[in-house]
Formats: sequence, structure tokens, C-alpha cells
Amino acid sequence: MHLHRFEKIWLLFGGGVLILFIVLLGINAYHSGMMPPSDLNTIDPTKVDQTPPFDKPGLVKVGDNEYDLNMTSFAFGYAPANVEIPAGAKINFHVTSKDVVHGFEIPGTAVNMMILPGHISTVTHTFDKPGEYLILCNEYCGIAHEKMGTQIIVK
Ligand code: CUA
Repeated sequence: MHLHRFEKIWLLFGGGVLILFIVLLGINAYHSGMMPPSDLNTIDPTKVDQTPPFDKPGLVKVGDNEYDLNMTSFAFGYAPANVEIPAGAKINFHVTSKDVVHGFEIPGTAVNMMILPGHISTVTHTFDKPGEYLILCNEYCGIAHEKMGTQIIVK
């Protein structure tokens, strides 16, 4: 059957709009997920202890004066506890939760994250001054929430 020229144009136009619409829907669905914008890394919260690097939480040297500090949070504490880190080094914190939502705040610094089960939250900080820094949970997480915390020893 012979299509009129205008009908062909309209068919192409309609198809193009449909494809555009589907692409926009996909982008929108991607951006409106449950993930916080700063964190697109996911982990199975029931397998944190078996999932590297969180199977061995701690400090890992990744460059010249740069370290990853992989930590887990749980009701009611953090691992590793009382970790020692070198002063003046770039520290990339990677933190996840083994159970519920926790906080990860280091008073006196800009470090303040919400830690969601299933996600890995990341922040970078350099501690220039040696000393003891507190890590506190600032999200209500249960009966011992007020006591949940540990410290970082900067040397
Ligand atoms: Cu963990 Cu509050």
C-alpha cells in the first residue's frame, strides 16, 4: 500500500516521540530510586561479613599518603573500633550497615553521613592534627543508640 508523504513523516515523528518518552521514563526511574544521590554502591546487607572489603574492616593503603578506611556499623558499634590512622593522609571512608540505619558523624569535621543497610557510603577527609576523634551515631537505631560510637586515633 502506498503511504502519503505526510503520513510517513507523522509515523516517523510519532515513533521518535515514543522512543524519547521511553528513554526519559528510564532516566527518571533511575534517578528516583531509593538510593541517596551521593551513593550508588550497593551491597547485600545480610552478607556484609563475607563481602570484601568489609569481611576485613580496616585501613588499606591505596596510594602515596592515601588510605581506604572500610568500616561496618551495627547495633551498637563500629568495626574496626579505635582505629589508628596517620595524620595528614587522605582517608577515604567506606561505610556500610549490617542491620538498620545508622549515622556516621565525626564532630569538628565535615564528616556526617547516613549509613543505610544495602549501601556503601563514602566520604574523604584528611586529619591534619593528631589526636582522638569521636565517631558518633546520629540516627536513632535502638535502645543503645545514645552509646553507639567509637574513636579514631590520629598519629
Ligand atoms: Cu546507630 Cu544510632
